[in-house]
Amino acid sequence: MRPFEVTVNGRLHRAAVSPRTSLADFLRDDIGLTGTHLGCEHGICGACTVLINGQISRSCITYAVTCAGATVETIEGLDDDPLMGELRRTFSEEHALQCGYCTPGMLITARDVLSRHTDLTQAQIRREMSGNLCRCTGYRGIVRAIARVAAQPLVSGPQQNTVGLGPAPGPGACETRSTPEAIGTQGLATPSPTTPVPGGLPSGITVSVRDVRESDGWVTIEQVFTLPHPRTTVWPLLSDLEKTCAALPGIELDGPPVDGAVSGKASIKLGPIRPVFAFSGTYAVDDRSYSSTIEGVGTDRRSHSRAKARIQNRLFDLDEENTRVEVEIAYTIAGPLAQFGRSGFVRNLVGRLATTFAHNVNAALSGESGSAAALAQSQGWWKKWLAPLCRLIAAFNRRRPRQGD
Ligand code: FES
Ligand code: FES
Repeated sequence: MRPFEVTVNGRLHRAAVSPRTSLADFLRDDIGLTGTHLGCEHGICGACTVLINGQISRSCITYAVTCAGATVETIEGLDDDPLMGELRRTFSEEHALQCGYCTPGMLITARDVLSRHTDLTQAQIRREMSGNLCRCTGYRGIVRAIARVAAQPLVSGPQQNTVGLGPAPGPGACETRSTPEAIGTQGLATPSPTTPVPGGLPSGITVSVRDVRESDGWVTIEQVFTLPHPRTTVWPLLSDLEKTCAALPGIELDGPPVDGAVSGKASIKLGPIRPVFAFSGTYAVDDRSYSSTIEGVGTDRRSHSRAKARIQNRLFDLDEENTRVEVEIAYTIAGPLAQFGRSGFVRNLVGRLATTFAHNVNAALSGESGSAAALAQSQGWWKKWLAPLCRLIAAFNRRRPRQGD
């Protein structure tokens, strides 16, 4: 028997199994998750499909001990997944199951297909699903059900955040890979002190993730980027929330901050879905320390998920020509999207956003036409029309007598 630890559906399991025990047998017999079905036990039918570190895998031909330190999700763990919810609904409506034996594997594979592709045709769906066999109901209903979900705006296209298992662990694997920290982060593996974020950035700009940690349901990501401009040039842009948001893709303010209050929408690609959080909060700037803080709460009406977030920026002089920007993003997500908040999805998202943001800020500071024009245009529009209007409404609300006054 070999001891190992694995996180299944967010819960840590410590067990000892024979090296030949399959993951499917471990899931069904040892921890009672019988939603994973066994058909052929040869890797042919797909009934045993689960997610291992985000990748679909045949659990009948995966040894349980090779999953030491990994994160496994079974059909039971996807109960609150919004995309899976849509698939379950359309499978039912399109009569895509009869006995239901193949259905858990079908659903997990279909979710993966929808996560990797946009504009799926029926032929593509058939090809992608060809590794999953159904013995009774036929495939028409299954293809129709997946096509219906693919046609919804809920599905936002490819994601690439999966991590393979790698080779089977040696005898010391359990001790080295299953630290409490690693389990607590559930896919948010703590990066090395400076993990470079890929992206074709102009010379002089670097973007890196310095730390990722989780505590009391909050995830905190610290990032650092450098800009080839002096701090006195960068600060006027980064202390202006309108200009800052104009450089951030997917963020739209309702108007400029009024007495420190802000509101707007954040449309983000979170794994396979694209929620839109309507947010409101506060914005504060400290010119002496070259720092700013925005805090807010937001709700995605479609998934009924709620998020709280705080973003703090601080600028440092690297030398006369270069500025280091330290950004700390802390957030917590509740509701059906919470599972995405705890995964590598968000880290990828934040990395991509930071790269785009640094690029846009640099372009605006360098006077490049597209970005600078966009920032200036948004600035001009609000300054001329929306800002006075917002101030007027705020003043009116302050003066309006409250009930009971
Ligand atoms: S039972 Fe695993 S592929 Fe058939
Ligand atoms: S519904 Fe029975 S095997 Fe697919």
